[in-house]
Amino acid sequence: MKHPELISQLTLEEKAMLCSGKDYWHLHGIDRLQLKSIMVSDGPHGLRKHNDKKDKTDVMGSVPAVAFPTASLTACSWDEDLLYKMGQTLGEECLAEKVSVLLGPGINMKRSPVCGRNFEYFSEDPYLAGKIAAAFIKGVQDKGVGTSLKHYAANNQETRRMTIDTVADERTLREIYLAGFETAVKEGKPWTVMNAYNKLNGTYCAENDWLLNGVLRRDWGFDGVVVTDWGAENEIDKGIAAGQSLEMPGSNGLGAKKLVAAVNAGTLSEEALDARVDDIIDLLMKAQDSLTDCEYDKAAHHEIAREIAENSMVLLKNEDGVLPLKPGARICLAGEMAQHPRYQGAGSSQINAKNVDCALDAMLKAGAGIVYCRGYDKTKDITDLRLLKEAVECAKHTDAAVVFIGLTEEYESEGFDRENLTIPRSHVDLVNAIAGVNKNTVVVLSGGAPVEMPWEPKVKAILNAYLGGEAGGEAVTNLLLGKVNPSGKLAETYPLKFSDNPSYYNFPGERTHVEYRESLYIGYRYYDTAKKEVKYPFGHGLSYTKFEYSGLKVSKKKIKDTDTLTVSFKVKNAGGMAGAEIAQLYVKDAESTAFRPEKELKGFKKVFLAPGEEQTVTLTLDKRAFAYYNVNIHDWHVESGKFEILVGASSRDIRLTAAVQVDSTAGEVEIPDLRAEAPAYYTADVQEITDEAFEALLGKPLPYRDEAPCRITVNSSLEEAQNTPAGKKINAMLVGLFRALSKGNPAQEKMMTSMALQIPIRCFISMSMGVFTEDMAEGLCQILNGEGTMKGLGRIVGGIGEAVKGIGPLMSSI
Ligand code: BGC
Repeated sequence: MKHPELISQLTLEEKAMLCSGKDYWHLHGIDRLQLKSIMVSDGPHGLRKHNDKKDKTDVMGSVPAVAFPTASLTACSWDEDLLYKMGQTLGEECLAEKVSVLLGPGINMKRSPVCGRNFEYFSEDPYLAGKIAAAFIKGVQDKGVGTSLKHYAANNQETRRMTIDTVADERTLREIYLAGFETAVKEGKPWTVMNAYNKLNGTYCAENDWLLNGVLRRDWGFDGVVVTDWGAENEIDKGIAAGQSLEMPGSNGLGAKKLVAAVNAGTLSEEALDARVDDIIDLLMKAQDSLTDCEYDKAAHHEIAREIAENSMVLLKNEDGVLPLKPGARICLAGEMAQHPRYQGAGSSQINAKNVDCALDAMLKAGAGIVYCRGYDKTKDITDLRLLKEAVECAKHTDAAVVFIGLTEEYESEGFDRENLTIPRSHVDLVNAIAGVNKNTVVVLSGGAPVEMPWEPKVKAILNAYLGGEAGGEAVTNLLLGKVNPSGKLAETYPLKFSDNPSYYNFPGERTHVEYRESLYIGYRYYDTAKKEVKYPFGHGLSYTKFEYSGLKVSKKKIKDTDTLTVSFKVKNAGGMAGAEIAQLYVKDAESTAFRPEKELKGFKKVFLAPGEEQTVTLTLDKRAFAYYNVNIHDWHVESGKFEILVGASSRDIRLTAAVQVDSTAGEVEIPDLRAEAPAYYTADVQEITDEAFEALLGKPLPYRDEAPCRITVNSSLEEAQNTPAGKKINAMLVGLFRALSKGNPAQEKMMTSMALQIPIRCFISMSMGVFTEDMAEGLCQILNGEGTMKGLGRIVGGIGEAVKGIGPLMSSI
């Protein structure tokens, strides 16, 4: 306990009040202890601070702020210093707006390329994601502003994210889905961690004792605030007992009342409550300094956003040196995305950016000889033949054509997943047609996640711009023109086709649950073990110069698992332009009883080199670089034997190798051997994981073998009630309502509708800050289950009087 003195001065009611938010975005303070209330706001790629003085043109009523590139792009920088700088920059914006905690970064693994929120996450690899997140967190927090590492844990899809139960074995969780959080918590020390909406192995993350008190607090030493995702609370007393500290948004006194009642009834100990109150007091104390007045330089931050984008965008392909574009060349710039870029994702991370630049303007400003053709209508998937023809005619007569395509707003967002890896038909038609008439066709691809590229063989170069933030247009221009040398590398695999993805057979799961049957086989861990061809591998990215690797040395040929191993090698810029190379180190367990992926990333370094310059890179490996998680001893274990050290320019471009013998010091340990029971795990045959094999991995029977019939409770969503007569009517009404409210904005309509239909009924209470009461929720369930429509309606109508009182405070805080 850090603040026993202060806690002893609080009444039970005050303690309970502190554990539930004051409103949507504020925590309670305690005036008599000189602890002021603080505000938290979304990020993480810019500040989305709720604006009290809402102007209807502002995105979701947030204050203007600088939009930085999203996580899927910044991860491609593989540059911890850059992420630290981004964190510092955001920290300054928070200080200027008196925001004490920035709600990010998001670090969930990209289990499937179609997760609608992948743009907000870093990678398919926990090592890379963890390191990048830790650097970002340190950057923000060194400014005196907190972060919220989210969404803890196993929240890897948007479909039914608020009700789904993730079924996964402990080894998979520890090695993949928790490992990134672990690094970020231990190295970044975030002030807060945000738990996810979903259940994990049967229990909501918000009240999962194993996840919170066990893994997070006991195993990793986290001593900060665990905040619920907005509306993720189930039973607050269970949450507090399990290690959660704060319910958000606040429930207008309801949560506090329940906590007081639970302590008085003896079902929650006051010590357990005190421990969590201690977290909150500590946060309030750390945050008080963020409440002083200060300003930031918007123009300077815009420049930093550009620098981050330039150092992260990935040159996927560059045949015959078509890029950089030659000085004086005549260029057809085609595709509406050159003029109206997609530069950020949608949902809670959407920024009200005021200074968005586009490639069209930036190219003109740079004096490039361009002719712009719209090429397609960005709001439509079907091809506009007139626009297409105009672009093709133009491309026929220019030296090169740069075509801007990608995922438009309605394709990806928080709140729903994509259905496949396609982009609009009109974009594909444009590339194919232009590549047919101009042999120097270059594609600039935008979007937050991988897409299929059937057109790829026809084009000479591809620059993957992802979602580049408000200065992305200028960044693209500087890269195309060679003012900046590309240096980003993919933080995720681009598969050839959607069905190649290892989670394909179990995504997004059933009505109630999703099984992570493919286990450790996510991203390159799968593609490399299964020896499957991919379009662009993890870690891939080109430069306008070339790099040579040599002189791999390991400090010892044989080590104990308690020793560290130093690995060094040289990287040389053997081309004519200054540039940066991201050198990657993978470890392969040459022979093992436990199943292991072909290789795993265990180190990386981005080196900046002048032409002809050579640098020695030194990386240190410890036990974790060789270990797997052994569920028999609930600890990390190294299976003694030979390991290969693989150093290269991507997961599929290994340039140097060495071998080392690592011996375990753990004594007699039973190694999980599933070769007889679950052989598919040894060959990564993800399609062949039988119930029996998955049970062997889980170490228990499948929890959902016999799906229970659907009965609507407060934990069900309206979507689950779709087959009931009342549910059908209510849902149809909501669909119509959101169509009208979205005023022809299909992305917003899709997001709002899927969120509303998939939210559990109990969340109507917390999300409305208690305006919708518990009794009204029960009444609604009665109606949906056909168990007394009149009685149910009575309970809803009966609550309206109370509800009206809460509407004022609710409206002013959202
Ligand atoms: C999102 C969080 C976000 C929160 C507050 C939730 O729906 O999942 O990432 O921080 O809302 O806006």
